[in-house]
Amino acid sequence: MISMSNIEPNNKRSTQLEKPSTPLSHREGQGGESFIRIILIGYMGAGKTTVGKELAKALGLTFYDLDWYITTRMRRTVKEIFDERGEEGFRRIEHNMLHEVAEFENVVISCGGGTPCFFDNMEYMNQQADTVYLKASPEVLYAHLQMGKGVRPLLLNKTPDEVQQFIREQLAYREHFYSQARHIADVNLMDNFSKIANTVADIREMLGV
Ligand code: S3P
Repeated sequence: MISMSNIEPNNKRSTQLEKPSTPLSHREGQGGESFIRIILIGYMGAGKTTVGKELAKALGLTFYDLDWYITTRMRRTVKEIFDERGEEGFRRIEHNMLHEVAEFENVVISCGGGTPCFFDNMEYMNQQADTVYLKASPEVLYAHLQMGKGVRPLLLNKTPDEVQQFIREQLAYREHFYSQARHIADVNLMDNFSKIANTVADIREMLGV
């Protein structure tokens, strides 16, 4: 049985990765051809999947949702994996699958809210891609989660007050990891289609793509 502390990176490590002066988006493949790889991170309910799909569509790239990829490869829902293997088992699978999808070229990838916070995943994502943190307040995240239909194992069996408290506390802990992203997009106002389009436009401007 592994302990969670073994798989969480040292959260005392406070050095930010150096922000590159030029966008990383146009990377060179092994044959010298250039490609784009963008990874969206952020808390549950930040809109990673919604923005990711629109961004991929606008750029003519393929969209991957890491939870979807895990579900497809494992033939199990995220909840089933949590139930069968616990959160530790899920995090190991998530880590391994991240290393598969983050090799793909010309993609936008949205990862799970916890992905950046385990192992060296955040550092790895920053090496592999242009990472963008979709940042929102606990209140906005809670409102988005209320509207969404997905099953989130970490939020099950909690009263609304407990969910709000959980979001506040977990977001405060996770901020250290999220803020290591190369770019940050404020999505506090993103609650209808034109605002999603604005977020996509902001990200394209930030990344120069
Ligand atoms: C999790 C977020 C979920 C999913 C899992 C754990 C988290 O993804 O990976 O339930 O730890 O924040 P979304 O952020 O897409 O909901």
